[in-house]
Amino acid sequence: MTQDDMKKAVALAALEFVPKGGVIGVGTGSTANHFIDALATIKGRVDGAVASSVATAERLKKHGIQVLDLNEAGTLTVYIDGADEATVHKALIKGGGGALTREKIVAAASRSFVCIADESKLVDVLGRFPLPIEVIPMARSFVAREIVALGGEPVLRQGFQTDNGNVILDVHGLKILDPVALEERLNHITGVVTNGLFARRGADILLLGTKNGVRRIP
Ligand code: 5RP
Repeated sequence: MTQDDMKKAVALAALEFVPKGGVIGVGTGSTANHFIDALATIKGRVDGAVASSVATAERLKKHGIQVLDLNEAGTLTVYIDGADEATVHKALIKGGGGALTREKIVAAASRSFVCIADESKLVDVLGRFPLPIEVIPMARSFVAREIVALGGEPVLRQGFQTDNGNVILDVHGLKILDPVALEERLNHITGVVTNGLFARRGADILLLGTKNGVRRIP
């Protein structure tokens, strides 16, 4: 079974969390794309979806799933999205695809967050995956210096602009023992829009695609 097969299996398993009626939030990335493709098979079940990126909105529309603006949708029943790293406590690193800010907004506006990932994403300690931080372009160097002072090694994601017109610093070399504290600390650096730690509001349910089937961490 390949990693992509595990992503497909876990995306399919997430259909169980799609309620009848109402609007759901949909994430970004290859696992979320598998979920969108699976959602298309039961699209009549939902009234529509809020997308966490332009790419996700386009894929949803291609499948004939109505895309709503979050400002019109109100509170969402469930948010379904992937992750770059996850712990058993359901703290996450996200933003490998650069959509972290909209992902965090849609997660915050949802009653429940179901994270879907293949088993390679499960770690004991977050930080092997470089932590993405979305930054206002004029603050890039200032924010980078502040991160170096915290012990990280920021690397500008070359040739990349977020859907919000900002840049991403990928921070290497962090061993994140207290994700909630670091998430808050990074958010207080002026010029940071969002960081990719989802710990204050982590996932509510983690579904992991494994070689032996889908494992649920409630
Ligand atoms: C995008 C994300 C994705 O959820 C994360 O990068 C995982 O992607 P994939 O499902 O392709 O492994 O946070 O910003």
